[in-house]
Amino acid sequence: MAALRTTSRLARGFKVSPASLRRSYATVQPASKTPKTKEPALDKEAKTKTFQIYRWNPDEPTQKPKMQSYTLDLNKTGPMMLDALIRIKNEMDPTLTFRRSCREGICGSCAMNIDGVNTLACLCRIPTDTAKESRIYPLPHTYVVKDLVPDLTQFYKQYRSIKPYLQRDTPPPDGREYRQSKEDRKKLDGLYECILCACCSTSCPSYWWNSEQYLGPAVLLQSYRWIADSRDERTEARKDALNNSMSLYRCHTILNCSRTCPKGLNPALAIAEIKKSMAFT
Ligand code: SF4
Ligand code: SF4
Ligand code: FES
Repeated sequence: MAALRTTSRLARGFKVSPASLRRSYATVQPASKTPKTKEPALDKEAKTKTFQIYRWNPDEPTQKPKMQSYTLDLNKTGPMMLDALIRIKNEMDPTLTFRRSCREGICGSCAMNIDGVNTLACLCRIPTDTAKESRIYPLPHTYVVKDLVPDLTQFYKQYRSIKPYLQRDTPPPDGREYRQSKEDRKKLDGLYECILCACCSTSCPSYWWNSEQYLGPAVLLQSYRWIADSRDERTEARKDALNNSMSLYRCHTILNCSRTCPKGLNPALAIAEIKKSMAFT
C-alpha cells in the first residue's frame, strides 16, 4: 500500500480545482527534516517510543503534507495507538487532528493506516519494540480533510445508494413485528457487525482505481446484508442494481479487504455470495 502513496497530486504540481485545493491525497513523505516533539520531562526509567504522524493543514493549502515526529514515554501512555494519539494531542500538540469517539471498536471513526495496515487506532496495540518508530497515516487513497481525518463523502454516498434499510410492502402478520426464523437470522451473522469504518474499501486496489463506480467491499458487504435478509422484499431489485460491469464485478478477489478488517469480517466472502446468487437466478 505504501508504494501507491509515493507522491501527492499537489507535490507533483498537478492542476487542481479550487475545491480540491482544500484537500490533499495522503502521501508517503520521507521523515527527514520533520519537526520533532518530545515529552518535556523524560525520566531515566522512561520507555520511549517515537511516532511519525502525517500532518496536513487545509489552512495552508500550498504547504506539502509532512511527517511529524513525537516521542512518548510508554510507561505513562495507555496500551493502544489511540491512547498515544490522545496523549500527544492533550499534552504536546493540540493542533493534531484525528477522529475518535467510542474508544472500543464500535463507532469506526478512528480508522487509519498504522504501520502499513488499515485498522482502528483504539483496537491497535502500540508495538512494544521501542527501537522501531511507528508510522501513522490517514486511510490510503482518500482525500484528506486535515491530518489523520479522511474525507468519506463518496463512501457514504455509495452507502446511501444501496438503500441500507428494510424495504417491504407486506404488513407483518401479527400487525406488530417482522419475524424471522433462527436460521434466517443466522444468515446475517458476519454482516450486521460491520461498523462502516472503511478500512476494507480503502485497502482494495480495485476501489483505489474505480471508487467513483465500484462500490467497494464495505458497501457490498452492507448490500449483501440486505439481500440476505429474509424480511426484505426488494432482493431482486437490489441485485439488479448491482448487475453492471462496475458496481460489483470490479472485485478481483485480491482479498486485501478480508485481511485488514479490524472486526474480523469477510467482505470478500459477502461479495462472492452476491455473485453466486446473481449467477443462479
Ligand atoms: S467490513 Fe470490516 S473493515 Fe469493512 S467497513 Fe465493515 S468493519 Fe470496517
Ligand atoms: S476481494 Fe475484492 S473487494 Fe476485497 S480487496 Fe480484493 S478486489 Fe477489493
Ligand atoms: S474510537 Fe470508535 S472505533 Fe475507535
